[in-house]
Amino acid sequence: MRRVAFVTQKGGAGKSTLAACLAVAARAAGERVFLIDLDPLQSLCGWGWRRDCDDIPVVAAPPSKLEKVLEELAARGITLAIIDSPGGDGAAVDAAIRAAHICLVPARPNAFDLVAGEKTLKKIKERGRDYAFVLNQCPTSRQNARIEEGMATLQALGVLMNPLVATRVDYQEAARRGLGVGEVNANGAAAEEMRALWASVRKRLGKKPRKMAA
Ligand SMILES: Nc1ncnc2c1ncn2[C@@H]1O[C@H](COP(=O)(O)OP(=O)(O)OP(=O)(O)O)[C@@H](O)[C@H]1O
Ligand SMILES: [Mg+2]
Repeated sequence: MRRVAFVTQKGGAGKSTLAACLAVAARAAGERVFLIDLDPLQSLCGWGWRRDCDDIPVVAAPPSKLEKVLEELAARGITLAIIDSPGGDGAAVDAAIRAAHICLVPARPNAFDLVAGEKTLKKIKERGRDYAFVLNQCPTSRQNARIEEGMATLQALGVLMNPLVATRVDYQEAARRGLGVGEVNANGAAAEEMRALWASVRKRLGKKPRKMAA
C-alpha cells in the first residue's frame, strides 16, 4: 500500500481539496483508496459525509494512531492511503511526514506559500522522505513571469509535480458536494488536471522509495 501525505504549514493552500480530488482520480484509475484525516477540523471527513457513496472511505485519526490505522488498511487490501494534515507544524504534520512514501506540498504561486512550504520541507528532508510541490490555484490565463520563474526553479530541483493546478470552480463544487472534479465535469480542465496529477504521483511512487528514516 502506497502512502501519500499532503503537508504544508500554510493554511488554505489546498491540502484537503487536492487530497479528495486526487483520491477520486486514483480510484477512477483502479486504486483502492482510503483517506485519513489528521486535521481536528475534519474538513476531509466532511467531504466524506457529503459524498453519497462509500467507495472512498474517510477516517479521522489522531497522530498517535496513524501507524496502526495504516497497518490495518494495508491488511485489508487498500492500495493507496492519502493522508490530509492540518496547517501549522504540530504532531499531526510530523506523523504524516513520518508515515508517507511521498509528501505533496501544495502551494499557491506566491512567496508566502512557497516560504511556508520550505519550512515544512525542512522537516521532510530531516526525515529523508520524497517530496514535491503541487502549485495550486494558479491563474488560468497565461502564466506570468513570476510563476514561470518559480516553476523553473522547482522543476530544475526535481521537486515540482506536474501539472500546475489552476483556480477553477470545479474544485470548489467538488468540495461542496463530496465529489471529485471528474465527477463534477468529466471532460473539464480540472478533471484532466487531476488525472494528470495522479499519473505523476503514481509514476513517482513507482520509483524505488528512498530509505525511510525512523
Ligand atoms: N484549485 C482550486 N481552485 C479553486 N479553489 C480552490 C482550489 N484549491 C483550493 N481551493 C479553495 O481554497 C480553499 C482552501 O482549500 P483547502 O481547504 O483545501 O486548503 P487546506 O490547505 O486544506 O487548508 P487548511 O490548512 O485550513 O486545512 C477552499 O475554499 C477551497 O475550495
Ligand atoms: Mg485542510
